[in-house]
Amino acid sequence: WHVAVLMGGWSHEREVSLMSGTGVADALESRGHRVTRIDMDRNVAATITGARPDCVFNALHGVPGEDGSVQGMLDLMGVPYTHSGLVTSVIAIDKELTKQRLVPHGIPMPKGRIVASDSLYEGDPLPRPYVLKPVNEGSSVGVAIVTDASNYGNPIARDAKGPWQEFPELLAEPFVAGHELTVAVVGGKALAVTELKPTQGFYDYDAKYTDGLTQHVCPAEIDPEIADYMMELAMRAHELLGCKGPSRSDFRWDETQGKDGIFLLETNTQPGMTPLSLVPEQAKYAGIDYAELVERIVEEALA
Ligand code: DAL
Ligand code: MG
Repeated sequence: WHVAVLMGGWSHEREVSLMSGTGVADALESRGHRVTRIDMDRNVAATITGARPDCVFNALHGVPGEDGSVQGMLDLMGVPYTHSGLVTSVIAIDKELTKQRLVPHGIPMPKGRIVASDSLYEGDPLPRPYVLKPVNEGSSVGVAIVTDASNYGNPIARDAKGPWQEFPELLAEPFVAGHELTVAVVGGKALAVTELKPTQGFYDYDAKYTDGLTQHVCPAEIDPEIADYMMELAMRAHELLGCKGPSRSDFRWDETQGKDGIFLLETNTQPGMTPLSLVPEQAKYAGIDYAELVERIVEEALA
């Protein structure tokens, strides 16, 4: 095959995407495929037309590689590409739209609300502890957990540092105490449940991409009934959203509430493919090495 690996771009997750894309491109080359590495800029359509690949491997994260824009462009160009299509991407990048799609079908998600960031200077939108996050970022960019112990004040002080300075609107959700877990779906099957145990604080950007800052327990050492239910939820979310290729659904679980304590936070349609990423790790657990995983994803796009 000749595969154009799209990576980089200008989202907050540019560096993560370069790591994903480099891993994917190296793996394809190691399997004897021809690869064109494309760091996405505004000329990307002309670059792809010039390269004439059989397929685009979308290794972009964040906007506009994960929100349907790149997918729509490739649809118009008639170039096959990996991962989810336009409509799925538009919905899944937006945590609020995702809820509107999934909650009516019985998928448990935290009941949040969108708030104007300015309003946080007047008071808390929810009882503490709660989480603030941009609706359409990844890798925990712009996430803050507001607890009674936070030194933000209540209302949040104007000079306190947080995502409210950068993002005019944020999603506020009740914080689910307990465990951070994730489930990858590859080839139409849920692979495993991984528990993420950050050595300090929560599973934020640094904990995600610095080796040694988070312990990954795969398979998670939890009640098999809970694990099975999470895998079922990940499958249902994948299907309801119409995902193609790999997806990864992230969960919080308050074990004191049993099954009722499980909450899906979101389904990622462009999950990370870096050396510390979770889809490759679960694939490995399922007996699929990294290069084989990448080839399978391309095969599915070309099918
Ligand atoms: N947004 C990052 C890349 C992930 O979901 O893995
Ligand atoms: Mg995400």
